[in-house]
Amino acid sequence: MAAWVLALANLKGGCGKTTLALNLAAGLARRGSVGLVDADPQGAMGHWVAWGGQETAEGAGLPRVLAAGTDPLAAIARASRHHDRVVVDCPPSLDMAVTRQVLEQADALLIPVLPSPLDLWASAETVAVVHQARRANPALRAWLLLNQAEPGSALTRAMGATLAGLELPVLGSVVRRRAAYRNAALEGRSVYQMGFRGREAAREMDRVIADIAGKE
Ligand SMILES: Nc1ncnc2c1ncn2[C@@H]1O[C@H](COP(=O)(O)OP(=O)(O)OP(=O)(O)O)[C@@H](O)[C@H]1O
Ligand SMILES: [Mg+2]
Repeated sequence: MAAWVLALANLKGGCGKTTLALNLAAGLARRGSVGLVDADPQGAMGHWVAWGGQETAEGAGLPRVLAAGTDPLAAIARASRHHDRVVVDCPPSLDMAVTRQVLEQADALLIPVLPSPLDLWASAETVAVVHQARRANPALRAWLLLNQAEPGSALTRAMGATLAGLELPVLGSVVRRRAAYRNAALEGRSVYQMGFRGREAAREMDRVIADIAGKE
């Protein structure tokens, strides 16, 4: 049976695609076999592991990263043969064609959005790409996911309401702005391998996974 494919995409850069792809993949890997496809030609995920001084992703308790090179579909197909689930990190806007191709193959999509009006407007273009992808892939499930949320901030509260205007469902759980996510990248590991420092972030990743599970 084909693997379940989860993509992280937003044509807007810097909204947390790579951070969430890696940490969600690490969380899913506790439930079954997961392959991680780096569809971003900049290859940030490979650096993530290298920064931590780990020789292999497995050495850091991370899923194996497969660099997609110029052919994301071939990479997804290859990862699907070996794993139950595949998580795909998409590039920002310059490579819109890559995101399009990935969305035509994905079962589920999370679109991280930062609590800022500029990010929200930029994400509207991504929503249009989702609608196009659904012509070829009508079963694609997609959610907006508020990332770097600060619950005390008026902007974050206002964003919750404004996101609803983007014509895609907003995932029930949000991801807070936490040092653990930045430190995880510096240390070349996921928040699950950070012990106490990563505990709240790991719980948050588990809630996101629970929200999208059941829809597999
Ligand atoms: N929830 C969070 N809390 C704190 N920092 C975060 C969080 N999510 C992401 N970051 C930080 O924000 C920055 C951008 O994140 P990331 O690289 O994952 O975004 P991206 O969408 O993959 O960017 P690009 O479009 O350039 O590929 C990084 O420094 C990352 O550590
Ligand atoms: Mg990235």
